[in-house]
Amino acid sequence: MANQRVSVHGMWSSRAVFIMATVGSAVGLGNIWKFPYITGEYGGGAFVIVYLLCIALIGIPIMMAEVLLGRRGRSSPINTMKRLAREQGSSPAWSIVGYSGVVAGFLILSFYSVVAGWALAYIFQAASGGLNDVSATDAKALFEGLIGSPDQLMIWHSLFMIMTMAVVARGVRDGLERAINILMPALFVMLLIMVGYAFVEGDIKRGLGFMFNIDFSKVFQICVEEAGQVQCRFTGEPLLVAMGQAFFTLSLGMGAIMAYGAYVPNHASITGATVTIAAADTVVALLAGIAIFPIVFASGLEPAAGPGLIFQTLPIAFGNMVGGQWFGTVFFILLVFAAWSSAISISEPAVAWLVESRKWARAHAAMVIGVFAWLLGIGSVLSFNLWAGEEYRWFGKTLFDLKDYLASNIMLPLGGLLIALFVAYGAGRQMALEELSISRQRLFDAWWVIIRYISPIGIALVFLNSVGLL
Ligand code: TRP
Repeated sequence: MANQRVSVHGMWSSRAVFIMATVGSAVGLGNIWKFPYITGEYGGGAFVIVYLLCIALIGIPIMMAEVLLGRRGRSSPINTMKRLAREQGSSPAWSIVGYSGVVAGFLILSFYSVVAGWALAYIFQAASGGLNDVSATDAKALFEGLIGSPDQLMIWHSLFMIMTMAVVARGVRDGLERAINILMPALFVMLLIMVGYAFVEGDIKRGLGFMFNIDFSKVFQICVEEAGQVQCRFTGEPLLVAMGQAFFTLSLGMGAIMAYGAYVPNHASITGATVTIAAADTVVALLAGIAIFPIVFASGLEPAAGPGLIFQTLPIAFGNMVGGQWFGTVFFILLVFAAWSSAISISEPAVAWLVESRKWARAHAAMVIGVFAWLLGIGSVLSFNLWAGEEYRWFGKTLFDLKDYLASNIMLPLGGLLIALFVAYGAGRQMALEELSISRQRLFDAWWVIIRYISPIGIALVFLNSVGLL
């Protein structure tokens, strides 16, 4: 029996609209900014393989779980978890999934908005000809100039937050919907052109080798060069980061997909939609890597340059290609749109919850969430300048890195673990069977084994490994 509930926040008009919106959520800075930079930091090929495994064995099954819970509950993640736990006779404590998701959402939004702000700034850099003919050294100096200035960063961070909340206030459907339909495919085409550029001008052999040559020793160790000597230490960190990235890039583990699932029409098939979304997301991330690493090597840059990686490499390409001024401008505009449609989904669980539970108008809820996330974001802005020093670091990380690490690598996988456990053990087979309505029994059985055992055990092993217990 499909359920009869409808969401008070409106519904997607079709399955295709849901897919588009969710691709909009998934594809964002995580693919184009974060994937290349952490792949660079954690050594390339082996990291990529672990990441792909996490997408397939943990990401896709948990995405199905989030969508099915969302559609069944038809409300914000907090209330969906409360309602379903009650109906299935489980503990109300499962609503912790919803609450921790709201907290993770704040943390993520507070650094996401700052990085999206960089992309905003680069639209103007590119359009004004500021990237024309730049060398690798110029590109680095330009980026360092931007992040070294708290005033500039605050302006862009504020602007992006206002843009996001303006759309959230209007509701997900009337907001960006139409724009995404055109802009996401456009971004995809631009990436293909960038890949073409990398093939012609970049060091394609080293770039691809770096991304796809698998050296498994790197999954368990981190090497840094100190005083001309390479020092390696064993750690589970690359595994943890690869898994965290799988969650981050698919928008999983904090209820964003559950919130979007609440607006899915009853008879739409969840499985096919999920696989399509994950595939699109993965292709975009890989293309971004393939576009960037050949430029990194051809320009003598460091793959492990950190969060500034794409902002220091892409300008070199734009600065030196024919029509690069125009091309660079369009690229950064599209990147901002990709970030925009993602940021909107990050705040949806919190906004939907305030609307339901406090009976606030959407605009009111959006404003309150936006102001909090903006305030928290000031810490991310200062991490690159006034608070970049050692005295403002914890575990060697700036506030920016710390928020990313805590949210992406710890809170999201934990949230995902709980979601898998709730579907498998808290709610049970019957509910999943009804919502997924997979006609091929074998397919359902395979998913059921994965969600019951493989995903939760996989997450648990990576956690144990990362704290040194394995
Ligand atoms: N997936 C987006 C990206 O790759 C970011 C994002 C949107 C997200 N919603 C989320 C990350 C929810 C974690 C949780 O840029």
